[in-house]
Amino acid sequence: MLVFDDAVPEATPPQEPVTPPKVTSISIAQQPVVAQAQVQHAVTSISVAPNAPKAEAPQPTGSGVLGVEKIDFKANRIKVDEKRVINCRADLNQLVPFKYDWAWQKYLDACANHWMPQEISMSRDIALWKDPNGLTDDERTIIKRNLGFFSTADSLVANNLVLAIYRHITNPECRQYLLRQSFEEALHTHAYQYVIESLGLDEGEIFNMYREVPSIHEKDAFELQFTQELADPDFHTGTPETDARFLRNLIGYYVIMEGIFFYVGFVQMLSFGRQNKMTGSSEEFQYILRDESMHLNFGIDIINQIKMENPHVWTAEFQADIIELVKKGVELEYQYAVDTMPRGVLGLNVSMFSEYLKFIANRRLKQIGLPEQWPGAQNPFPWMSEMLDLKKEKNFFETRVIDYQVGGALAWD
Ligand SMILES: [Fe+2]
Ligand SMILES: [Fe+2]
Repeated sequence: MLVFDDAVPEATPPQEPVTPPKVTSISIAQQPVVAQAQVQHAVTSISVAPNAPKAEAPQPTGSGVLGVEKIDFKANRIKVDEKRVINCRADLNQLVPFKYDWAWQKYLDACANHWMPQEISMSRDIALWKDPNGLTDDERTIIKRNLGFFSTADSLVANNLVLAIYRHITNPECRQYLLRQSFEEALHTHAYQYVIESLGLDEGEIFNMYREVPSIHEKDAFELQFTQELADPDFHTGTPETDARFLRNLIGYYVIMEGIFFYVGFVQMLSFGRQNKMTGSSEEFQYILRDESMHLNFGIDIINQIKMENPHVWTAEFQADIIELVKKGVELEYQYAVDTMPRGVLGLNVSMFSEYLKFIANRRLKQIGLPEQWPGAQNPFPWMSEMLDLKKEKNFFETRVIDYQVGGALAWD
């Protein structure tokens, strides 16, 4: 079942941790990638006497396998209790037996919601955009700034997935979802490119906005700090400090980037569709919102599972740090609202966004077990919860009618 972020969250209770398998020493030969990175690091950072034997890089305590180790021929079959989200040493290349059914189910749900950007007609949008009286200057600014933010933001998310997160997730069903999510991020970038090209916008102006528009740059720079930490080849989970850094990255991306930084833009772009303007672009964003809502829900589940399996990371200091990060995220997203929409337009104004951001940030905090920071904040856009329903009979924007559900099993006669 799809659950929108502003509806009652789909409570997927984290699975109880099991006693981690006893970590036996693994030879360097079984850890080629890790070992190579560490040896390089050792060579550059430690003065080694000539002719001294090459120092073996120390294996980080408790870190997990990558999935590219030498195949342990004749090793025993996988037991489900050996599986853990991070720092697991059980073979990563065997999808089953499943331990985290929620991860596999989200992979199946995501596949069932497959769509392609070019299946949505842009003809009405093109006519409106080219009509000198079709849209106001403020409306055009909103569209261009959102395309500017989103066209590079999804690349940042994709890069974080494949270059930072993936290698540290030591569970195959979670990795399976990450692979699907990565493809969806590529589809989102494709969708923005399709809109930009259809409208004949200046590609350089739009794609370079994260290096030219301060409010966009600030959000992206805030996120990139999380990627940079983990993309360092010398970074390994397996200590209380690095496990916490890893969890911080997940919260930075799933909760703040995909759970807060996307939402001013989603409300703005979907508001065009509600007024029967830019209906193709709005529909693209509607499909993207549905995907992002699932990314957020997966993120919340995996964060809570890691918390449960690694209670040592969830210190009072860590919680205070996360609350501050979320507050900073709300502040940056509010600045983005001001920057995209200095004057009220489409029935929206910045004070509504101020309230909305507090409302959704409260929800995000609560979903990962932290206290709400803005008690009583209300949702000024209750209609957003209808935006996930993309069934044929309720196609909101009356553009091309397609039922994208492809989840049924093939029928054989
Ligand atoms: Fe995305
Ligand atoms: Fe996403």
